Amino acid sequence: MLVCSCNFITEQEIIETIDSLLDEDCWQLIVPAKVYHAMQKRGRCCGCFPNVVDIIIRTTENYHARRHSTDDEIFDFMTRLKQFHEENRRADLERRQKGHRAA
Ligand code: FES
Repeated sequence: MLVCSCNFITEQEIIETIDSLLDEDCWQLIVPAKVYHAMQKRGRCCGCFPNVVDIIIRTTENYHARRHSTDDEIFDFMTRLKQFHEENRRADLERRQKGHRAA
């Protein structure tokens, strides 16, 4: 399934990139820009980023489910990851609203 129409990136390509980033450091916090940078792409309209965040969360959960991470480690990490993305989403929304007011 095509996730990013600007760069023609599929969900499978994103999942594979996230998995390889997690292979390097399974506890790193991954954001869409990091995924796109690893793919040598960049966000253009960034309209796909909310979907990419959902894929990051889902892929990270699946990654740790396949590993020998303890339930406590996974719960703590996923809580931090979701909180991190929620804060980024809120900051992005505020930035966009300010941008509309100024225009
Ligand atoms: S749809 Fe992904 S950058 Fe525009």
